[in-house]
Amino acid sequence: MTELRKIVIDGREIEVDPSMTLIQACEEAGIEIPRFCYHERLSIAGNCRMCLVEVVGGPPKPAASCAMQVRDLRPGPEGQPPQVRTNSPMVKKAREGVMEFLLINHPLDCPICDQGGECDLQDQAMAYGVDFSRYREPKRAVEDLDLGPLVETHMTRCISCTRCVRFITEVAGMPELGQTGRGEDAEITSYLGQTLDSEMQGNIIDLCPVGALVSKPYAFTARPWELTKTETIDVMDAMCASIRVDTKGREVMRMLPRNHDGVNEEWISDKTRFVWDGLRRQRLDRPYIRENGKLRPAGWDEALKLAGDKLKGARRPAGLVGDLAPVEAAFALRQLMQALGGVAECRVDGAKLPAGNRAGYAGTAAIEDIDAARRILLIGTDPRGEAPVLNARIRKAWTR
Ligand code: SF4
Ligand code: FES
Repeated sequence: MTELRKIVIDGREIEVDPSMTLIQACEEAGIEIPRFCYHERLSIAGNCRMCLVEVVGGPPKPAASCAMQVRDLRPGPEGQPPQVRTNSPMVKKAREGVMEFLLINHPLDCPICDQGGECDLQDQAMAYGVDFSRYREPKRAVEDLDLGPLVETHMTRCISCTRCVRFITEVAGMPELGQTGRGEDAEITSYLGQTLDSEMQGNIIDLCPVGALVSKPYAFTARPWELTKTETIDVMDAMCASIRVDTKGREVMRMLPRNHDGVNEEWISDKTRFVWDGLRRQRLDRPYIRENGKLRPAGWDEALKLAGDKLKGARRPAGLVGDLAPVEAAFALRQLMQALGGVAECRVDGAKLPAGNRAGYAGTAAIEDIDAARRILLIGTDPRGEAPVLNARIRKAWTR
């Protein structure tokens, strides 16, 4: 076991694992450190400089707390534990400076930005910034990218934190984004201007700390404070990711991931994220009755009566449960079929496995066991298409 190291943060002494970064140690001490580029599930970039802290006795300049480990700190002259300050005048000035620099080029278009109300830059400018700017130069403008039908871009808003690049490369495993140019010419772009192919690309919308990457189907339809948030579980694949469904009135407006370390960490697949438009558009909302080989539109009463009559008269009725039917409906159908002397069937995808013996094929391993698995055997499946988040987890284990 690693020996813990003492460290004093804002006068409070705590003991932490020396491999922790200062930002993690501060979190452990219950102190919030502002950040844009740092994300605990991505590699460390250290390029936004918002997380600056003061290391007492260190070089006379603020240090990026996400890029410095506790073990890098030197003890005091008499062997006292190293000291970090997060609320000193130096830190306050440093944060205000970084914020002023970020806002040199970031447009002030919050009223028309979809990220408004849930924007890290907005929140942190409010908490750690100043209410003036010394820069009068025109802001730079960057052309938007066409990343496909899911992710909308407003690249003038980008603050080059590179979270999107790191996610798509490290977690999704598809290096489709990168940064070109330097200084003011630095731009995030997709390679050769192509659209994204990843089945998990929607996560870069959540990761982007500003409104540079937003959801295309959700664009300009609601504000976060108008939405009712309901926590639930995803049914789009067998992974059962933790999600939150945001509704406005009776309409589902968007679906977002919730953190669950044991299942989806904090990612969801694009199928999960963008499936909601199917709840509203192109619904099968009218019954049809087949007569002489042709379908004719009918009313519900007529259709249900006909179905009831046919079921009653059937010799051996069969019920087929679709992939997305809820358990209650599937159970009710089975009860009905059994009462009528028929059978119910759920293997609409042609699976050969017996429905009654789940333990025989599902095994007893938990999803998080993949992280430490020595061997992973996949039989007749392509997890990339069937459960992209699980695929990313398998990939994570494989890269390690
Ligand atoms: S697009 Fe967003 S996530 Fe990507 S680098 Fe720019 S600010 Fe960061
Ligand atoms: S969060 Fe540390 S440099 Fe960006």
